[in-house]
Amino acid sequence: MRVLHVCSEVYPLLKTGGLADVAGALPVALAALGCDARLLVPGFPAFRDGIADRTLVAELPARFGAAAGIKLYHGVLPGTDVAIYMIDAPDLYHRPGDPYADASKHPYADNHRRFALLGWVAAQLAQGLDTFWRPDVVHSHDWHAALAPAYLRAAELATGQRGAASVITVHNLAYQGVFPAYSFGELDLPPSFFDVNGAEFYGQVSFLKAGLYYANKITTVSPTYANEIQSDEQGCGLNGLLRDRAHDLLGILNGVDDAIWNPATDPRIAARFTPSSVAGKAKCKTALQQETGLAVQNSAPLFGVVSRLTEQKGLHLMLAALPDLLHRGGQFVLLGSGDADMERAFRAAAAAHPEQVAVVIGYDEDLSHRIIAGSDVIGVPSRFEPCGLTQLYGLKYGTLPLVRRVGGLADTVVDSALENLADDIATGFVFDRFDDDSLRAALRRAFALFARKSDWKQVQKQAMKQQFGWDRAAAQFMSVYQQIATPRSA
Ligand code: ADP
Ligand code: GLC
Repeated sequence: MRVLHVCSEVYPLLKTGGLADVAGALPVALAALGCDARLLVPGFPAFRDGIADRTLVAELPARFGAAAGIKLYHGVLPGTDVAIYMIDAPDLYHRPGDPYADASKHPYADNHRRFALLGWVAAQLAQGLDTFWRPDVVHSHDWHAALAPAYLRAAELATGQRGAASVITVHNLAYQGVFPAYSFGELDLPPSFFDVNGAEFYGQVSFLKAGLYYANKITTVSPTYANEIQSDEQGCGLNGLLRDRAHDLLGILNGVDDAIWNPATDPRIAARFTPSSVAGKAKCKTALQQETGLAVQNSAPLFGVVSRLTEQKGLHLMLAALPDLLHRGGQFVLLGSGDADMERAFRAAAAAHPEQVAVVIGYDEDLSHRIIAGSDVIGVPSRFEPCGLTQLYGLKYGTLPLVRRVGGLADTVVDSALENLADDIATGFVFDRFDDDSLRAALRRAFALFARKSDWKQVQKQAMKQQFGWDRAAAQFMSVYQQIATPRSA
């Protein structure tokens, strides 16, 4: 089975969120099952610099505003055996910084053309652009790659022949790639595709809607989110379409890349530890307190957060609960960046309580590992959360997740309620309502359990025992591919 994963971020070369972690790990896990999985990415500077020893596969004439022409290269994702195609189109992709927005955080005005090219090249590969390799399935991730199924359908209509099958994975329905109607004319799609049964969305063009409409199968990153997005509240205007396609929609929970996130081998943390020998975790806590300027103490719980600072993540609830957390003697460490007001508010809290609150604004892969390893609790109080990876990392590192019961958080964390403790299934702290009081009540449960050392250890052990390997998700994807692909011999 040959599968082309089409996406805009891949760890370790370019990452702004969990999508990159998934794109870096899933092809490796698929390969272990005998699947020939490759990646296709836009030639952003991080990919151009990071994919050494690349060979030219094809040269294409100018289109989508790539006046200097388009070259397709082939190389290998560093640290893996996974083949990666990169589209070099300097006019569209050679821009420093954020892949999606300029220095003032405004989305680039030509994003519709930048990401149309990504989907279009995917469809070209499916039609034989690389004479040595042609995918049976094109697997798009998020809106950036969501036009690939539309271009595949357009090619089928033009040739009358069935091409590659298509899958789209929704990592976050809130980001849809919606552009003014006039941009449709620049996408090189048949005019009939600008339709309510197609790419049109309330008079505009929606890349994600096109993907959801034309793909053979739709997956999202947890079973609960697969249900939630069919509802009015969480469907972001696409719930009707998703309900219509419910028989082709499946939630497949993300995994954890054991090569990157594993306390037994992690080179970024102060000391290694395992479920049967957690002594190293205390060293990680002390080292984290020292590194971030917190008072070195072990008597009270240390709450960590590693997150984009956006509305989605619900961190204003954490801010509101902070006085209570500090009053109870806890400590708080946050690594994140995003919303300017939230950055300011967390910075102010750190300035007011330097020994108890540490805030690092920015993006720091190494520090993220040390916070996950050194904290006692990892906070993810999201308003919505398609899957969430930091709570999975927390479980693996014995850092109990404190989460809202929503999306993938609901599927992966079991609250330390008395009956769950009695059944030995508790792994963290879960609250239901999206408000300050509910979060505060969960915090109180965390403090209460922390005071009962042997119960805490028991829950920690249970958390570290959880298995969220990519092998399980990869097997589920294989069965999706098998349902839709017509395997070819060449
Ligand atoms: P989302 O993709 O919605 O941001 P996830 O929990 O799926 O949420 O994934 C977030 C990923 O990004 C995790 O690997 C997390 O460790 C990482 N991350 C988020 N913010 C930062 C940051 N400021 N510095 C380093 N890593 C971060
Ligand atoms: C998105 C979601 C997050 C998910 C990640 C990887 O960014 O917000 O919940 O874990 O994609 O699938």
